[in-house]
Amino acid sequence: MNETEPQADKVDAAPQEVPEEIAQATNEYSPEPYSGEFPIVISGLRNAFGDFVVHENLDLKVRRGEVIGIVGGSGTGKSVLMRSIIGLQFPSEGTIEVFGQDITAAEPDEVIGVRDRWGVLFQGGALFSTLTVAENVEVPLKQYYPELSKQLLDEIARYKVVLTGLPESATSKYPSELSGGMKKRAGLARALALDPELLFLDEPTAGLDPIGAAKFDDLTRELANTLGLTVFLITHDLDTLYAICDRVAVLADKKVIAVGTIPELLETQHPWIEEYFNGPRARAATATHNRAKGIDNNTGGGS
Ligand SMILES: Nc1ncnc2c1ncn2[C@@H]1O[C@H](COP(=O)(O)OP(=O)(O)O)[C@@H](O)[C@H]1O
Ligand SMILES: [Mg+2]
Repeated sequence: MNETEPQADKVDAAPQEVPEEIAQATNEYSPEPYSGEFPIVISGLRNAFGDFVVHENLDLKVRRGEVIGIVGGSGTGKSVLMRSIIGLQFPSEGTIEVFGQDITAAEPDEVIGVRDRWGVLFQGGALFSTLTVAENVEVPLKQYYPELSKQLLDEIARYKVVLTGLPESATSKYPSELSGGMKKRAGLARALALDPELLFLDEPTAGLDPIGAAKFDDLTRELANTLGLTVFLITHDLDTLYAICDRVAVLADKKVIAVGTIPELLETQHPWIEEYFNGPRARAATATHNRAKGIDNNTGGGS
């Protein structure tokens, strides 16, 4: 299959370019942006399904404004971790603070106030197949701002769609009419609908070809920079880790065993980390990264 990816190398995402009408309509409802250091603080987390323990004593602090990569073998509980942070999986022990509020203790009403401050692209990126791209983006908008006029909803949806590098014509398309990469972008547009401060991406580049994946990575980094987002990014993709993550958290043995920059992680002596970052795929990713940075793989630090 020959997927035609939109050109999204330059994303026009400067916050001041939000049309004024849209800014007014949405700002009216939004609280002050979070100004603390750690928008997500997880302490002593335990998640279990019956006797099967996924997380035990898991701690993690996510810094404001960082793109943090979450890695770990298949089934180590990356998606379950994300689901607990956004309140879809209730932990049996521990606390999870989001924007300084313990969401495990909060009443459902209070959680609502936090919930419109994050956006989520779920694994698989499921869009509603019977809705157009614009209608998909409008789902969270209608939920949180039921009084917005149809005209304003369409205007905001169009803005979000274009923000993710899709052509404006994509707004009226159905998911089945889009390539894999375009679907991911549409999912991202929906995740950005409510101007979130926190963005959760679960395996966003899975299933994309390497070029499509690299473009999606660039888009994520650019949106994070220009919109000042904190990004919680679950990925298998070593290229993604090298290209856009400020820090990486490693899930193994039911907890976060290490968190840091890639050079810091390379110092960590844990069998999974050593194998992951020193295997053949890691060497290829390091070489690509070094080439992009102009480092000679034979004489530079790259292995
Ligand atoms: N709703 C559920 N009920 C029972 N087991 C689950 C449920 N969700 C996830 N699990 C199990 O928890 C473990 C972690 O799952 P998941 O977080 O999806 O892994 P991954 O790291 O691949 O994202 C897996 O063994 C999975 O089978
Ligand atoms: Mg998963």
